[in-house]
Amino acid sequence: MSAALTAAVPGRFAGQVVVISGAARGQGRAHAVRFAAEGADVVAFDICAPLRSPLHPASTPEDLAETARLVEAQGRRCLTAQVDARDLQGLAALAARAEAELGRLDTLIVNHGIWAIAKNSWELEEDDWDEGIDVMLGGAWKVTKAFIPSMIRAGNGGSVILTSSAMGQKAQPAAVAYTAAKHGVLGLMRTLAWELGDHGIRANAIMPGTIASRMTQEGGTVEQSAEWWPRFFSTDRSLLQAGWMEPDVIAAAASFLASSDAAFLTGVALPVDAGWSTF
Ligand SMILES: NC(=O)c1ccc[n+]([C@@H]2O[C@H](COP(=O)([O-])OP(=O)(O)OC[C@H]3O[C@@H](n4cnc5c(N)ncnc54)[C@H](O)[C@@H]3O)[C@@H](O)[C@H]2O)c1
Repeated sequence: MSAALTAAVPGRFAGQVVVISGAARGQGRAHAVRFAAEGADVVAFDICAPLRSPLHPASTPEDLAETARLVEAQGRRCLTAQVDARDLQGLAALAARAEAELGRLDTLIVNHGIWAIAKNSWELEEDDWDEGIDVMLGGAWKVTKAFIPSMIRAGNGGSVILTSSAMGQKAQPAAVAYTAAKHGVLGLMRTLAWELGDHGIRANAIMPGTIASRMTQEGGTVEQSAEWWPRFFSTDRSLLQAGWMEPDVIAAAASFLASSDAAFLTGVALPVDAGWSTF
């Protein structure tokens, strides 16, 4: 199913540069490969290290190197860096390096994220709440703060795409920090849409549904959540019987949002969830 949906549009982003956070694997890697196949050079960064709250395995420097290999196999340049989205200085240094080496920045995809659970909100450890909000909301803001000035300086307009979640507009029990942070990401996106419009830069968000990545497929959190909250998990909310969708489904949506086909879309929170959020 996803192969037919996601045919690349060759040359769509020829001569352009895309920056992607959380690019070592999963959706971040899919974005990198998709944009490279459509002509863009890529700045791919990721923390590539464990955090305290997730049960799923951490990404590695080897994962990030594999993303670079796949981009280069498309004939595009890939600048990689191991940077934490919470580290504003590290982000600013990468933005300066990207501007010096690649000259411009057209699309910024704020994709990084983590997944952690606790049966009830009040049982979540304080440090786990802090980490979820710091990484996914604070980190999203810091990535935009670091890279948007390069986009404005380049003067070519552009597109900022933030990865929220179906949990950006609905709730899932056992995932309070995630749900709250992803709601917050939509507030960040809508504020940016106001502020960037005069620069010809658009800001939108994608709200993915169930995507097959290591975040969801490893660590047992889906099974544990279903055991805790059978009422929530007893319904398959996917209207298209899509099941776990491949990350490239989200890369196709990002490519559309960054393209001239979406020239007049800004401030949009786009569900790509096979209808999950209509419930
Ligand atoms: N998988 C799903 O079902 C699903 C659904 C909705 C939204 N999302 C969101 O999609 C995005 C991509 O997730 P994925 O499914 O590809 O999972 P993933 O775990 O494969 O990828 C997430 C990447 O983000 C990186 N990352 C985490 N914290 C970071 C930090 N502080 N700084 C830099 N990089 C960091 C990780 O190392 C990892 O490589 C996330 O924002 C996630 O919340 C996922």
